[in-house]
Amino acid sequence: MSDHQHQDHAAGEEFWDARYRESDRIWSGKPNDVLVREAGGLAPGRALDLGSGEGADAVWLARQGWHVTGTDISGVALERAAEHAAEAGVGDRIDWQRHDFARSFPAGEFDLVSACFLHSYGDFPRERILRTAAAAVAVGGVLLIVGHAGGPSWDPDAHADMHFPTPREVWSRLELPEGDWEVLVAAEHLQAMTAPDGRPGTRPDNVLKLRRLR
Ligand SMILES: C[S@@+](CC[C@H](N)C(=O)[O-])C[C@H]1O[C@@H](n2cnc3c(N)ncnc32)[C@H](O)[C@@H]1O
Repeated sequence: MSDHQHQDHAAGEEFWDARYRESDRIWSGKPNDVLVREAGGLAPGRALDLGSGEGADAVWLARQGWHVTGTDISGVALERAAEHAAEAGVGDRIDWQRHDFARSFPAGEFDLVSACFLHSYGDFPRERILRTAAAAVAVGGVLLIVGHAGGPSWDPDAHADMHFPTPREVWSRLELPEGDWEVLVAAEHLQAMTAPDGRPGTRPDNVLKLRRLR
């Protein structure tokens, strides 16, 4: 590993730990609506939640009967998520693992791999990580990728320097072998959100849901 790579790794971990330490809770504590919508009808099996943050999605999946691996770069977030899971009575159904996906990835194969808002800064190799995520899906399993498609209604030019890929772009950059996957959902929608001043707002998000056929 070069010094440069090492610095990137430390920066990612320190950045996200510091972000989580800013307050006792930075996300809503509720599972993502889109996860509930898209995974609610699936038969529970083994799930992998990539960038599990404070654990709301992983806890929701565990409550639906899934055996979950929740994984994130931030030890602060993982500790918080484990507390949340214990309070919810599903601590024994979730395996929390710390990984910087640019460098390592959970072992095993999964019936659901979910990457909800797996966004970061700098040289974050999101496309490569999502290809690794696809490879971790068992035959018959589902890959769910949810991401922002633009800035929020109260600040549409936020992150104007960032390119938000369309669902089709996400799909084509996965470089999946033809015929091995079925596209179940590739869509953009406006997600209701609360603005920092407490007023209602929206943000365009996209969803890509694929099933592995072979
Ligand atoms: C925008 S948050 C989304 C959190 C959660 N999935 C949700 O929907 O609320 C992105 C998450 O990805 C994690 N993350 C960022 N870079 C990462 C990396 N290189 N490896 C693993 N996790 C990372 C962050 O710590 C953070 O929890």
